Amino acid sequence: GSGWGGVRHLVQDAVAIPVERIPHFPRPSVSGHKAELVFGRLAGLSLVILLGRKHLYEGEGLAAPLYPVEVFRRLGVQTLGLTNAAGALHSGLGIGDLMVIRDHLDSTWHRLTAPLARWEADERWRPPGRWTPPAAGRAVYDPEFVQRFLDAGREEGLPVRAGVYGFTLGPFYETPAEVRCLAAWGCDAVGMSTVPEALYARLRGLRVFALSAITNMGTGLAEAEHSHESVKEQAALLAPRAARLLERFIRSLDDSGI
Ligand code: HPA
Repeated sequence: GSGWGGVRHLVQDAVAIPVERIPHFPRPSVSGHKAELVFGRLAGLSLVILLGRKHLYEGEGLAAPLYPVEVFRRLGVQTLGLTNAAGALHSGLGIGDLMVIRDHLDSTWHRLTAPLARWEADERWRPPGRWTPPAAGRAVYDPEFVQRFLDAGREEGLPVRAGVYGFTLGPFYETPAEVRCLAAWGCDAVGMSTVPEALYARLRGLRVFALSAITNMGTGLAEAEHSHESVKEQAALLAPRAARLLERFIRSLDDSGI
């Protein structure tokens, strides 16, 4: 996600594979942007990182964000980490903060129902055996990982908060009324990604963590209006801290297993 690419430089023995070489893999739509999978190791763990993921708002359907998750699952990945840039919904969060997502609110209310029904009928997607929906109330975001990120932030002296991510379809930034609504619904930050991937990964039995880099105040909360450019600018400024947090977290898994 925006601002989180620094983790690539932490990976040892890295082998990069352009996504063009993987059948059906969603390609980045912005020309000149290369998307790749980077395989390697860090602190005794095997990692694969996807640089350049696709969003639902790009209009190519749910397979665009979810196909990579299915590829990871088939590679044997056990834990999925999702990263993004997000806007703060109240003054308890500010530009430059890092938020570990402890829960989300899906303001699209889609809940993957239609595509999952379709995939059940399509053997290319159907997992071995039948899936059962996760029990109601079961955490999407692993509480143990949330705690580890809070600890990692404290140890690194980084501003890390646990919060609720409000998911909007985009591609428009929210209106001031939508920002007030999401805040009233209990969300702390807002963004246009992550939730479909997290739900799909949980459905397939992966453990999930997710992180937001706060790049702007939500529409109407600050004098200066945000734009795609200012969001990218702030994401780039945050990148070194974001990579430090991820490295500390990953190293904390080393001795305890996952
Ligand atoms: N809204 C939605 N998505 C975002 C924002 C925002 O304010 N900032 C970064 N991604």
